[in-house]
Amino acid sequence: MIEFYHVSKTYNGWPALHDVSFKIGKGEFVFLTGPSGAGKTTLLRLIFRADAPDKGQILVNNRNLLHIRESEVPYLRRMIGFVFQDFRLLPKRTVFENVALALKVSGVPEGVLRVRVAETLGAVGLGHKLDAMPMALSAGEQQRMCLARAIVNDPQILLADEPTGNLDADLSGEILELMKSANARGTTVVLATHNRELLKRWRRRVMRLEQGRVAEDGCPET
Ligand SMILES: Nc1ncnc2c1ncn2[C@@H]1O[C@H](COP(=O)(O)OP(=O)(O)O)[C@@H](O)[C@H]1O
Ligand SMILES: [Mg+2]
Repeated sequence: MIEFYHVSKTYNGWPALHDVSFKIGKGEFVFLTGPSGAGKTTLLRLIFRADAPDKGQILVNNRNLLHIRESEVPYLRRMIGFVFQDFRLLPKRTVFENVALALKVSGVPEGVLRVRVAETLGAVGLGHKLDAMPMALSAGEQQRMCLARAIVNDPQILLADEPTGNLDADLSGEILELMKSANARGTTVVLATHNRELLKRWRRRVMRLEQGRVAEDGCPET
């Protein structure tokens, strides 16, 4: 589903990723971990084609990102849900509208859209906040809204960048549960986090980056 072959990326001469290779299969759940500055966000952005590597090849769903046309990028992004570290919510749109936008641009009919958005917001526990403005939500609620926005169109891949950022243990656990259920429905999940508690809660493949290199990749021993 996601394949990296000797991928390197530098920013102003500083290596953010160096010779990174890995494969993530369809339906897998992977924790991407490592200290701040290790390259986690860079790696996710490359999968989303928000950035291009300096060296190496990246395949997503068997398509080489180096060779896809600019016109194909929207199709690639439509199959990927992304929970950004900086939220990227639309402050002047309601919670409903924030989540509906992804479906609207895909041309989903209004009736289907209303049901789908309400269901997804219900699933993340925001069924009673459809008409609220995002800034009136707590940090945990904003985080859940962003997750709803990322999963509303049932993406094949879900990328989440520190989705439990400044949440307490209970809320982080809830976010993880929501990502687990997306994974159970077949979505391939890559969850970037430096929250060790999360890794203990669910034993899954852990890929640890250190200074832009894969320092460790595998399942923890039970
Ligand atoms: N847009 C950018 N411009 C310059 N340097 C960047 C940029 N994005 C990331 N970096 C650098 O690349 C390295 C990896 O960053 P990042 O991928 O954000 O790591 P992480 O998400 O693991 O904290 C860091 O040294 C960071 O300072
Ligand atoms: Mg980051």
